[in-house]
Amino acid sequence: MDTATAPTATPTATPLTVTVVIGSNRHGRFGPVVADWLLTHVRDHPDLTLQVVDVAETGHLPTTLAPTPEATTALAAITPKLSSADAFVVLTPEYNHSYPAGLKNLIDWHFTEWRAKPVALVSYGGLAGGLRAVEHLRQVFAELHAVTVRDTVSFHNAGASFDDDGRLKDPTAPDAAAKAMLDQLVWWGWALKDARQVRPLV
Ligand SMILES: Cc1cc2nc3c(=O)[nH]c(=O)nc-3n(C[C@H](O)[C@H](O)[C@H](O)COP(=O)(O)O)c2cc1C
Repeated sequence: MDTATAPTATPTATPLTVTVVIGSNRHGRFGPVVADWLLTHVRDHPDLTLQVVDVAETGHLPTTLAPTPEATTALAAITPKLSSADAFVVLTPEYNHSYPAGLKNLIDWHFTEWRAKPVALVSYGGLAGGLRAVEHLRQVFAELHAVTVRDTVSFHNAGASFDDDGRLKDPTAPDAAAKAMLDQLVWWGWALKDARQVRPLV
């Protein structure tokens, strides 16, 4: 079998719910430009229904993991979008060869919400295109019993890849990569949704 061949998504009557996590909350961040491109692809995919969690809008989630009133209020807006998701796409920049602290905090505040679900990873950054952040996230999600899908989309020198209107200067390769990644996410999404119903993960 050719392991490089992408699984083919099976069209279904009921789309999977996918939550896109926008991982940067930096003041002046570039993230929304990449997010706009990504969200268009998720919206256009016939097998997916979109929800969004933006780390910049997660309010005052304390890094102490203390159940403060502020944390409870913040979680009320976030947790349902994670627990109801059949699959995730996590968009991450690379900071110092890893992913942002705010994204880690959001991940750490949850556990069962990630469990036995697939996670696709989209990254951007400087020369490495965020690939080191992606590989770190694979380790984190393995600990949470989540399954990261093989294919990713990465933007090297991301700022130079988009024009002033936020459009990709050359969308051919990223668009094809997004399709392959989302088709794999759908395959895993259905496989794991079926598996969770037949036999809960112990
Ligand atoms: C604190 C910090 C550390 C960074 N470290 C890296 C890095 O290690 N590798 C890299 O390729 N880019 C690095 N960059 C560049 C960012 O990936 C790039 O500026 C990206 O657009 C940041 O995403 P944001 O604008 O959405 O926050 C770093 C940027 C910041 C702010």
